[in-house]
Amino acid sequence: MILTGKAKLAGVLGWPVGHSRSPRLHGFWLEQKKIDGAYLPLAARPQDFESAVRSLVHLGFKGANVTVPHKEAALRLADEVEPLARRIGAVNTLVFREDGSILGRNTDAFGFIENLRQGHPGFTAAKAPAVVLGAGGAARAVVAALQDDGCPEIRLLNRTRARAAEVAEELAQNQLPTSKITVWDWSDRDAALAGAGLLVNTTTLGMTGQPPLEINLEALPKDALVNDIVYAPLMTDLLLAAKARGNPVVDGLGMLLHQARPGFAAWFGVMPEVTDELRKFVGEL
Ligand code: ATR
Repeated sequence: MILTGKAKLAGVLGWPVGHSRSPRLHGFWLEQKKIDGAYLPLAARPQDFESAVRSLVHLGFKGANVTVPHKEAALRLADEVEPLARRIGAVNTLVFREDGSILGRNTDAFGFIENLRQGHPGFTAAKAPAVVLGAGGAARAVVAALQDDGCPEIRLLNRTRARAAEVAEELAQNQLPTSKITVWDWSDRDAALAGAGLLVNTTTLGMTGQPPLEINLEALPKDALVNDIVYAPLMTDLLLAAKARGNPVVDGLGMLLHQARPGFAAWFGVMPEVTDELRKFVGEL
């Protein structure tokens, strides 16, 4: 790729950042669309995060993605934060505006729901309760997305129940009374599946090198969609077990790919798509 002096610049701020797939992902789109631009890995220590962001603004960058451990710091730093990002409590996308101000967004909820819609066309969360395992940052984005899609009941379960209660309390604010969040004990996860239309694992269980997710799917209706945020491996034991009993499944790689689209559009001016070719290119690492 050859750049001109007018090349548009963006990147991902993280610490460490070496594991990030975002440069490969955005690089694919830049190449595909023959855009005069670059997307770089930007290693910034936590104590240097703010000055690193200011430097990018001064250098004329269009914006940046923000990953672990900077997502909360990015929320505090942005001059304007989109309401969804504030609700989730984290910013993963920064857009630097012409006047030098910084807009903070969260595109994880978008990535989550777009992935389900692409993987299972016609999917809507509005028809049945959803079961969400976990209460970390990913769970917050998933819960917000389900609320916005009109899910009637979100059953939240986490090993540390207090964390789930906190997420439920914070996200229940500003919400339509038609969408409620119920907190269940982690030990009740098998029973929580009864009557559900969606099961999502947002914990690290089942990830390569992590303990397995132990759950009995017997009570889950056969037409319920099962999704795992974990994408290494692509087909987790949860997805394999769900598929074996006939449930539709959607893997987690698509959430990573779809969450990147709005940022790319804001910085480089074109809304990119998630294709099989892209999935293969980013997933094969
Ligand atoms: P993220 O922000 O990426 O979602 P996180 O905040 O580290 O990641 O959350 C990881 C999730 O996996 C949490 O819900 C965590 O449960 P706790 O809140 O109880 O820590 C869950 N998790 C990790 N290891 C687990 C285990 N062995 N059993 C059950 N849940 C586990």
